[in-house]
Amino acid sequence: MTTIRDVAEYAQVSVATVSRVLNKKGYVQSATKEKVEKAINDLDYKPNDVARSLFKGKSKMIALLVPDITNPFFPELARAVEDLCNQNSYTFILCNTDNSYEKEATYLNSLQQKSIDGMIIVSDTISPDYIGKIKVPIVLLDRVFEKGDYSYVKVNNREGACNATNYLKEIGCKKIAHIAGPSSVLNAKDRMKGYIDAVAYESWFSNDLIITSDYDMKLQASTENIKALLQKHPDVDGIFAANDSIAIRTMKVAEEMKIKIPDDLSIIGFDGISLGEITSPSLTTMAQPIYEMGRKAASMIMDEINDPSLPKRMEKLEVNFMKRQSTRKKG
Ligand code: RIB
Repeated sequence: MTTIRDVAEYAQVSVATVSRVLNKKGYVQSATKEKVEKAINDLDYKPNDVARSLFKGKSKMIALLVPDITNPFFPELARAVEDLCNQNSYTFILCNTDNSYEKEATYLNSLQQKSIDGMIIVSDTISPDYIGKIKVPIVLLDRVFEKGDYSYVKVNNREGACNATNYLKEIGCKKIAHIAGPSSVLNAKDRMKGYIDAVAYESWFSNDLIITSDYDMKLQASTENIKALLQKHPDVDGIFAANDSIAIRTMKVAEEMKIKIPDDLSIIGFDGISLGEITSPSLTTMAQPIYEMGRKAASMIMDEINDPSLPKRMEKLEVNFMKRQSTRKKG
């Protein structure tokens, strides 16, 4: 195998000079540079990955930052990004930020130091100012800012939430509550707006039919809040949950309270994670096209890596209603 020493010998220069040409750092006379490049070609020299990334200015690595790897939505999203990376010979790096600004900032810095080619970011902790300082192409995914010139992929959260709530009305629910996602997450706010769009003019509607919860499946505090809601409003017969994890947790709370689903209470989630197919009862949901979202974001980042002058692209995908067993038309 050809080494950097062979190249130096062939070009009759020092190893340091070859390295300067590869790294594009330091002064090298143009005639010397040509000799080194000729030697690289003649000897078919293949620098190792690190050297090659310095030489070409590309590492062939893409990172995806997600806020919570334990939420089944994110592994499904990551799988799609990984598939497209593999198909295009990119190395895929997955970073779990735990919704922590510090952890996220540490990842963003070290990834840039490692010459990452591009990053796909799902975050509600990152600020537009911070994003402005990132020197590589980025695509925001799922959780996106309302304003700013960023490429992003998201779904029609508000319309999807409104349609989910209207479905509960259509099957005859007479009092529908909403378990919203965290107020720091924009898509949770949009889903809450969608619920309100559907119920604001109903005589039974009041603000205390809305409670907030974390987006994850395990938080004990939210479980207590769901229980309190159902105790305070025993006549609630429909719940729109801001994501599937909350909906699944709500089914568990209802079961513990001896509330029958869907006979006494219809529940609809939002996400379309695979887990919802195997719960008992299976979960009716407004499904995001999770795999397509991941693939789209990956394809957009690759396009921007190849041509950083491309205009930013904003993709808003449609959600799809999935009727399963947790909802039923009233008798
Ligand atoms: O379940 C995880 C939630 O966080 C999803 O609804 C997704 O849209 C996200 O932001």
